[in-house]
Amino acid sequence: MNFNRSTASLKLNTGVSIPQIGLGTWQSTEDEVYGAVLAAIKAGYRHIDTAAIYQNETAVGKAIKDSGIPREELFVTTKLWCTYHTRVQQGLDESLERLGLEYVDLYLMHWPLAMNSNGSDNWFPFKSDGSTRDVIEWDYVKTYESMQELLPSGKVKAIGISNFTEEKIERLLNSETTKVKPACLQIELHPLLPQQKLIDYCKSKDIVVEAYSPLGSTGAPLLKNEKLIKIAEKYGVSPATICISWAIWRGTVVLPKSVSSARIESNLVVVKLDDEDGEQINTIHETEGVQRFVSPKWGVVIFD
Ligand code: A2P
Repeated sequence: MNFNRSTASLKLNTGVSIPQIGLGTWQSTEDEVYGAVLAAIKAGYRHIDTAAIYQNETAVGKAIKDSGIPREELFVTTKLWCTYHTRVQQGLDESLERLGLEYVDLYLMHWPLAMNSNGSDNWFPFKSDGSTRDVIEWDYVKTYESMQELLPSGKVKAIGISNFTEEKIERLLNSETTKVKPACLQIELHPLLPQQKLIDYCKSKDIVVEAYSPLGSTGAPLLKNEKLIKIAEKYGVSPATICISWAIWRGTVVLPKSVSSARIESNLVVVKLDDEDGEQINTIHETEGVQRFVSPKWGVVIFD
């Protein structure tokens, strides 16, 4: 069988390469993530994905430093949290400070909505009656405009978006103030949420798509899927390897999260899927139903 430790990369619209497999760190605690990032870099990962809201940037940055790998050989992403849409520069500077880095390779707008920066909590403010999260009237196009202004400083090498629908991207691209195309869109993607139309749209706009929760997030529910298990048996690999290999086969970046060194190592090893298997995986959602595992209760509609 054709196994290999993936070193594949995609080209961003900035001309820079992004390694196709990156370590996801959502839900990895500060304690866990230090070892996870060190294990990942040791295993050969050169791409780490974090976010301000994961509240683990300090340990991620320490592991990057302690890995001994030159900074320029790593691709590091972090994300602007919703309570920082009205103070983007501050959001970035605080992230860089925690990471102990001079720049990130990619800075993403985490969600296309803003929460009150002076609310009941720095991360998750609630309305005064406690009913819903304190989402404010604020246009994400303005947030993106501020993100563009970060580029000349060199503190972010590329900017992008996350959790956007096609409609929202279209509106962003058509806005007068948008001068720099997003380099990436990061979204939930796996066999039960393939979002092919959105991927095709991004491809037509030269925006690289990144898959988060490629195993179905907490507890990796997709690994129990009978069709994926069957395909995995054919290749003599685990269903996790099939999910990750499918993401590579369809031309996306993929960000499997793990805190176990063994699973981190194995998630970097992919197989070259036969087209017929890739296409079969494309259709699993048609019979089993579409399932989105990550949909926070914002109190506003995000995913139509
Ligand atoms: P752990 O961190 O203990 O390895 P996703 O990438 O879709 O967000 O999935 C993350 C979940 O999948 C976590 O619960 C993670 O647990 C688990 N996981 C990651 N890699 C593997 C793997 N190769 N086999 C089984 N479970 C995995």
